[in-house]
Amino acid sequence: MIKDKVRVGVLFGGQSVEHEVSIFSAFHIIRNMDVEKYEITPIGINKKGEWFFLNCPEFFTLFEDEQFSLFEGVKKNSLFFDPSVQDDHFFLSILRKRLDVVFPALHGSYGEDGTVQGLFELADLPCVGSGVLGSSICMDKEITKRLLKEGGILTPPFHSLKVHEEIDPNFLIEKMGIPLFVKPARSGSSVGMSKVHCLEELLPAIESAFQYDDKILIETFIDGREIECAVLGNLDVRVSLPGEIIPQHEFYSYEAKYLDPEGALFRLPAKLDPKIVLEVQNLSKRAFSMLECEGMARIDFFLRKDGTLFLSEVNTIPGFTGISLYPRLWDLGNFAFPKLVDQLIQLALERHKRKKRLKRNVAIPNKIGNFTLQQSR
Ligand SMILES: Nc1ncnc2c1ncn2[C@@H]1O[C@H](COP(=O)(O)OP(=O)(O)O)[C@@H](O)[C@H]1O
Ligand SMILES: [Mg+2]
Repeated sequence: MIKDKVRVGVLFGGQSVEHEVSIFSAFHIIRNMDVEKYEITPIGINKKGEWFFLNCPEFFTLFEDEQFSLFEGVKKNSLFFDPSVQDDHFFLSILRKRLDVVFPALHGSYGEDGTVQGLFELADLPCVGSGVLGSSICMDKEITKRLLKEGGILTPPFHSLKVHEEIDPNFLIEKMGIPLFVKPARSGSSVGMSKVHCLEELLPAIESAFQYDDKILIETFIDGREIECAVLGNLDVRVSLPGEIIPQHEFYSYEAKYLDPEGALFRLPAKLDPKIVLEVQNLSKRAFSMLECEGMARIDFFLRKDGTLFLSEVNTIPGFTGISLYPRLWDLGNFAFPKLVDQLIQLALERHKRKKRLKRNVAIPNKIGNFTLQQSR
């Protein structure tokens, strides 16, 4: 008997500043999926938040035509225009009817922050990567850093500011030192981020970061190498060898990441003392578990000359573009891209099954206080 293919929905686009990056991630994921094993449904989310179910040829044509931000050509195939589901207006049941598992190739807000994960949890669909809590913790750099500190993991010193709070530039510079970094608390791809070299640059940097979030971080500059490590697994995880990014710009900015083809050099694996490799791997494992991550994460560090490691951030849906480190680090470890995608889908199915084991029922009380169930209804 031929086994049915697993129906996988790959989500891309989305309502975040990383919309375009996500399209490239989805392209590489879909291209590396085994069509003998998987029935793939690319699901585009445009910047207005509308969902479109596509088919693979359509996805690749749109990708080549650079039509994605609009999705104009595919209106007839949108979720709500699909004749096979028009009699069923309940969004969650549409998803459940058409898919066995989802792979959110989404980055940033409404994708990597727990919102989409919550939707699939309600739909009772396995979803690749962390669940609601792990995703939302790691999306928020302030919460991540507070938990890391509490768990005894070193992270660059920071001060957080909310949009209604008073700003004292002199105090911030005295506290964090110069240069310093200003960044939105919940963003990615270095969007809205500035390196501040003097007092005059501070307020414009704060203003720029507040355009992307209501909460920002002022962070002490760490003069060190940028080391990244990939984690794969649910409760029992494996960690990759660390890689190194050597930005060719003043820091690893959006331009250095995506606009300048020579914006950064990659050293895979990083040339490091074996003791440091082990420390990076152990810290990655500990942080992954402590921050409630599952499935996958890329964990980024700064390594100072004196050997001190600072954990900078955790990405629960790391980039999967052609240059992205997460798949390349696994490729080094004999996990070529198609095998990595297989593994991630497997982990999502396993986690879903594990959760199913949990009891949902208890003995039904027939009386609470003076009320019987009958009365309280
Ligand atoms: N405290 C810091 N010290 C030194 N460099 C930093 C610091 N914070 C950010 N950077 C630089 O900015 C880049 C992006 O910062 P990061 O916090 O990782 O944001 P994002 O989530 O957008 O990737 C880093 O890769 C690094 O080059
Ligand atoms: Mg980063």
